[in-house]
Amino acid sequence: MPKQRVSKAVFPAAGLGTRFLPATKASPKEMLPIVDKPMIQYAVEEAESCNIKEFIVITGKSKRAIEDHFDISWQLEENLKSKGKHAILDEIQKLSEHQFAYIRQGLPLGLGHAILCSKPFVKDEPFAVILSDDIIDPEDHLLRDMIKIHNKYQATVLALEKVPKEEIHRYGVVAGKEVGKNLFKINDMVEKPTASSAPSDMAIIGRYILTPDIFGIIEKTKPGKGGEIQLTDAIKTLMKKRPVYGYLFRGKRYDGGDKLGYLKATVELALKNPGVKTEFKKYLSTRISSLIEKEK
Ligand code: G1P
Repeated sequence: MPKQRVSKAVFPAAGLGTRFLPATKASPKEMLPIVDKPMIQYAVEEAESCNIKEFIVITGKSKRAIEDHFDISWQLEENLKSKGKHAILDEIQKLSEHQFAYIRQGLPLGLGHAILCSKPFVKDEPFAVILSDDIIDPEDHLLRDMIKIHNKYQATVLALEKVPKEEIHRYGVVAGKEVGKNLFKINDMVEKPTASSAPSDMAIIGRYILTPDIFGIIEKTKPGKGGEIQLTDAIKTLMKKRPVYGYLFRGKRYDGGDKLGYLKATVELALKNPGVKTEFKKYLSTRISSLIEKEK
């Protein structure tokens, strides 16, 4: 089979965002801003930086703001133009440059089912899956490294991170044999195990490069953990037929779906944001000094 390039990314965004209520009652979790961009924009830019050109968003109820965000806003553009605000105008125009497709996942049937919804658009190509609430520091190039591994093996690649025992129950967890630097050939995986039954401390984080044969497998996958059709279960079935690789990520990731993770992401990305970093650093240093003083 000829080598296929990853040119499409799927962004599951149909979740209810219950960990972030009430903020997510009427607006999507993916639109929560980190400094000056919504979380999903960081995810889209990460895909863009890997030369991915087509974006497929799996949406649900109360998610229309995502479509508006990546749409042309003629009125806003005219307004910025007339005021001579060219820098921000450029940024706004870039948002609607790419090709987006939106698919509604009518029922909350799980991540596996969300991915299956993208089948008519992905067709017969390998593709990236990005869970936008897992925020990866843009300097770490995780997706780019995963695509390189996919290009070499033409196989499924999962992003992995070592997580502490107390957090393991929140993730899909894998076991594997190290076959290269930070590269594992996976031989077991369990969705959200208990700490005592987890096959290792390596959790799947929100980046996947999948091959299109996953669709047929998801179609036959029975509901698993939480009564949902789990992507982890489908990949485990795939693993019996062909190799699945895990890339152990050593960079920075923040769980933007969790309040504390979201705050950490905000602080870290603010410290890198050219518009606010200098003032913010000053503020933070003063604030921390006063906190330390109080604790003495
Ligand atoms: C999903 C996957 C899980 C993975 C996690 C990464 O879980 O089912 O295997 O470890 O994403 O963020 P969710 O966070 O949607 O419950």
